[in-house]
Amino acid sequence: MKSARILAIETSCDETACAILENGRALLASIVASQMDIHARYGGVFPEVASRQHVLSIIPVVEQTLVQSNLSLQDMDAIAVTRGPGLAGSLVVGMNMAKGLALGIGLPLVGVNHLEGHIYSSWIYNAGESIPPEPQFPLMALLVSGGHTELNLVTDHLTYQRLGSTLDDAAGEAFDKVARLLGLSYPGGPSIQRAAESGDPARFKFPRAKLEGTYDFSFSGLKTAVLYEVNELKKKSTTLPVEDLAASFQSAVVDVLFKKTLQAARDYNTKEILVAGGVSANRALRQAFQSQKDFKVHIPPFSLCTDNAAMIAAAGYYRFALGHISQLDIDVQPTWRLS
Ligand code: KG4
Ligand code: ZN
Repeated sequence: MKSARILAIETSCDETACAILENGRALLASIVASQMDIHARYGGVFPEVASRQHVLSIIPVVEQTLVQSNLSLQDMDAIAVTRGPGLAGSLVVGMNMAKGLALGIGLPLVGVNHLEGHIYSSWIYNAGESIPPEPQFPLMALLVSGGHTELNLVTDHLTYQRLGSTLDDAAGEAFDKVARLLGLSYPGGPSIQRAAESGDPARFKFPRAKLEGTYDFSFSGLKTAVLYEVNELKKKSTTLPVEDLAASFQSAVVDVLFKKTLQAARDYNTKEILVAGGVSANRALRQAFQSQKDFKVHIPPFSLCTDNAAMIAAAGYYRFALGHISQLDIDVQPTWRLS
């Protein structure tokens, strides 16, 4: 595929991010300005606050990325941007910035699906460091983030077949809600992981929704089971065994995600599995996939699991190289499906 340098912008939720990537894989620069501390006060992302914060951060973030790369806008071949899914008010900030850059410099614009970005995070390595093996098709992709949980069969570049998804909460959303129940801070994933480290995962037998015969997931029953358990425990004592509750909840989530993905990979005869999205930063989940020997597994480094623009640049590169150029009048698509 042709060589190209992509500057990408990501503002779908609460991170303002920009990155520059070469040929779909070599990362030259990446800046992520997180708004986490601001939203933590509200216990979750406050959409209006998020979009205002993107407006303040977007120009400095793009400037810092260029400084980090030692390159200028004229050295780019295309501008990629997250078009959706995400918060409308947040997406438009990145989209307008990207359109402005594309129009001002005369570069092609490439609109990217955020979930496609998460998948492509496994293609990325730091320029100058050793090159990891490129994922090979067909592969089974488990996407686990704050807004999505789905299994996709990926048969080629940019070619997805959604096999199943969550019927209610996304896995990350379940982590966030259960953390709140346990009095742990936002975002819930890292807080639960930390608490679980010193907890007993076998103390509470929380339900694992199997949804036999489908590749769908459900986490709302698990969340309710934790709520009932917490209410019962509160009747007996003033202190909650937060560590054991966190470890038992985490183990139920990991168990379901791991077993369903392996089953799907077997059923569709893929040799490789890819795990991506914010929840793929979870150590217990990574360990479950890395300790099996039947499939080659791709999980991005921690810095690329949660939202970033490097992944948008990677997906943007393959879109650009395969001729998927966007018109300058494209709009954001807050509920855009991958397939
Ligand atoms: O991909 P992401 O950054 O944003 C979305 O596209 O949604 O994912 C954010 C989600 C949050 O729900 C957060 O709690 C979860 O990823 N998360 C984790 C961990 N780190 C982030 N969940 C479990 N364990 C973690 N270590
Ligand atoms: Zn994401």
